[in-house]
Amino acid sequence: MWLLLVFLFVLSCEKAKVEEKPSLAINTKELIRWRGCTDCHDTKRSLVGPSFFDISQRYEEKDILVKSILEGSCGKWKARWECMPPQKVSKEEAERMAEWILHLRTTKPPESSS
Ligand code: HEC
Repeated sequence: MWLLLVFLFVLSCEKAKVEEKPSLAINTKELIRWRGCTDCHDTKRSLVGPSFFDISQRYEEKDILVKSILEGSCGKWKARWECMPPQKVSKEEAERMAEWILHLRTTKPPESSS
């Protein structure tokens, strides 16, 4: 009997973990890595460019971010590089990325960089 209880407990933990991370967040995070954004950006720390968390604190408008990603951006951040060159991603991808970045505003500052 207790075995069954342990089993159910483990199951419910698994479920909780999955619900914490909606698939949109996971997949878009992968996409951001594939597209090389993480060469210059980290979720938490400023690297070449500002951290995604910092960006999420500054904006509410997705469109501004989409435009910056597609067309590049200069001089808005005291970043190590003054400009982000236009990124080779589709508009759909840029929109997903912008949404993902903005969703960070509802999270606590991330514990670990990734
Ligand atoms: C070569 C380095 C580099 C790469 C690669 C890069 N960025 Fe950036 N990014 C920067 C820098 C530098 C800034 C700060 C620009 C500024 O001060 O206006 C920035 C700023 C931004 C901003 C804020 C723009 C604004 O309007 O304030 C967003 C959003 C962003 N990057 C997303 C991305 C995404 C998504 C990718 C991948 C598709 C990416 N970046 C790839 C360097 C980079």
